[in-house]
Amino acid sequence: MLRAPRGTGDVLPSESRKWICLEKVLREISFKYNFEEIRTPVFEHTELFSRTVGESTDIVEKEMYTFEDKGGRSLTLRPEGTAPVARAFLEHSLGQGPLPQKLFYIGPMFRYEKPQAGRYREFHQYGAEILGSPSPYSDVEIIALAVDIAESLGLTGTKLVINSIGCPVCRERYRGDLIKYLSARSDAVCEDCRKRLSKNPLRVLDCKNVSCKAVTSGAPSMLDYLCEDCQKHWEGLRELLLRMGLSYEVDTSLVRGLDYYTKTVFELKWPPLGAQDAVAGGGRYDGLVEALGGKHTPGVGFAMGLERILLAVEKGEKPFREERALDFFVIALGQETRLDGGEKASATRDERIPAAQNAAPGADDDIFRRGFFLVREIRSLGLSCDFDPLRRSLKAQMKQADRLNARYVAILGEEELEKKMVSIRSMKEGWQKEIPLESVRDFIEKEVLGRGNQC
Ligand code: HAM
Repeated sequence: MLRAPRGTGDVLPSESRKWICLEKVLREISFKYNFEEIRTPVFEHTELFSRTVGESTDIVEKEMYTFEDKGGRSLTLRPEGTAPVARAFLEHSLGQGPLPQKLFYIGPMFRYEKPQAGRYREFHQYGAEILGSPSPYSDVEIIALAVDIAESLGLTGTKLVINSIGCPVCRERYRGDLIKYLSARSDAVCEDCRKRLSKNPLRVLDCKNVSCKAVTSGAPSMLDYLCEDCQKHWEGLRELLLRMGLSYEVDTSLVRGLDYYTKTVFELKWPPLGAQDAVAGGGRYDGLVEALGGKHTPGVGFAMGLERILLAVEKGEKPFREERALDFFVIALGQETRLDGGEKASATRDERIPAAQNAAPGADDDIFRRGFFLVREIRSLGLSCDFDPLRRSLKAQMKQADRLNARYVAILGEEELEKKMVSIRSMKEGWQKEIPLESVRDFIEKEVLGRGNQC
């Protein structure tokens, strides 16, 4: 049997409601903060990521799904959403509109990583980006948005970790001193870090290896190297966070794995998740749009992993109600219904599927057809409604209605049809009423409407 590729997964019907609810919450909160949705392609020119995320990052070096298309172009399944948003911002001259532009996205990302709980090769991100604002107020707005989302989803006890990695000017000075410090201790760091040492020494700081941690605990701190502008931004950010009641921890080893960051970097962690506890990560990227050939356009943003968020919500205080619910199930008891099958089962036929009914409705099909119209009518009232096209017995259909968690069942039998009536049964309250067919719409509007499914 063919299986889904390693590190990918299907969202089955039993799970998809959670995704719908999550996406609804994300969109609602984004609109509250005045962000607009943007959708970019799932693949981009490889160069977009190598130029922005950085040639010497793990993402570009080891994790990209890169392929050549039939026209010989090198394309890459997007490993993240910020560079594509910046590309679209430039391509469509969004910078000529009102600034800042506040954009959010929801979609799949792809990284060839070692799969484990909370880490996948295809995963989904919600991301938000503010383009065109250098103000620390925008950093705080982005952080507040991430915290607001986590809190709305019942994730109490998140930990906000912040750092500043300065700008290319002050970072260069720091980089030199860090290389000196690490080179003197290169024997004590892991193989990977020895390679990173000259190419991307900042990444050594967030290596989880115990011996590397021991070395980096005494390393110089970027915060002591910030230039005047970066220092002012850093102080402004911390003061604003405090005033907003957003508590944080400073972690000078937080550098993040993407080269486009400048000044602020942050992560939002939810410790009960264990090893992969970063539910959101982001920061400022004042040089990104310029790196793509645009005008200087400061930006700040973050992204959160939706699989991780869903794992967390499950363990948190407000798990999504997964219950599937249907407003109505219509049971039409025509002749075929009572026949319930008929043909002898063949060896390969699924026993639960009765033999094919006549393709075209017959003359004795009035009840079933009336039932089918009723389904349409109920749906036109904005309610969810289903029926059994396989026309099984009353007992089987009642069982199906129950399984679908139907709130009401409408039963149309020969007797009812003769009297031009339909029986409506409330599955929750247990009552059953006979309603004239012609006023079933009124009845549903009065009794049922306005109490439809809630996400
Ligand atoms: P990132 O830290 O690489 O940042 O990813 C953001 C979030 O995506 C992580 O905190 C995590 O929740 C989730 N994530 C990352 N990789 C995986 C994976 N393999 N499986 C499951 N979830 C994962 C970025 O992508 C930046 N573009 C964020 C950003 C936006 N910075 C500024 N604007």
